[in-house]
Amino acid sequence: MSLLEILLLSFFILMALSIIYSTLAVGISPMPSSGKARQAMLKLCKDTGKGEIVDFGSGWGHFVIAAAKTFPDRKITGYELSWIPYLTAYALKFIFNLNNLTLKRADFLTAELSSTSVLVCYLYPGAMKAIADKLATEQHHLHYIISNNFACPTLMPTKTLQLDDFYRSPVYLYRL
Ligand SMILES: C[S@@+](CC[C@H](N)C(=O)[O-])C[C@H]1O[C@@H](n2cnc3c(N)ncnc32)[C@H](O)[C@@H]1O
Repeated sequence: MSLLEILLLSFFILMALSIIYSTLAVGISPMPSSGKARQAMLKLCKDTGKGEIVDFGSGWGHFVIAAAKTFPDRKITGYELSWIPYLTAYALKFIFNLNNLTLKRADFLTAELSSTSVLVCYLYPGAMKAIADKLATEQHHLHYIISNNFACPTLMPTKTLQLDDFYRSPVYLYRL
């Protein structure tokens, strides 16, 4: 094996280890939302005015990149803890020249939501509970929550879109 091959292999192993470590640390892998789910979330965002959209757990950037392109005059922000997905999304932001997109490598539970209008997420039940607790105890001006697949335990959805996929997956809209 040549030195270049060893370096490349080590690089890919480090990337894989970093993703596995983050997945175990935060409790969910950076699996992107499906194309159908993304379209449903974007459709729901269309009727939410002009305010900032924040993705809690932006992963590789699938939703935030699409949102920044679809809504060029809205501010889009993504929070992500896992380094490799975060850096990939960061590179895509520059490749597509998306000046309305801000990416933060930070825990979304520390996010300050005073200027955020729409919260979007694709997470898991434990994280939905943590978000509900955060919203109940902190000042915010959120108007909408859009959640792919996982319901918010303390709220009744205003609208639920059912995806045309194998699981008939729900995408929830909550108006606060
Ligand atoms: C299933 S992915 C969703 C990716 C993206 N939102 C999409 O729709 O394509 C969930 C992401 O949330 C991130 N995550 C989980 N808990 C987090 C936290 N407390 N702060 C920031 N990111 C977190 C994970 O690292 C993972 O990349």
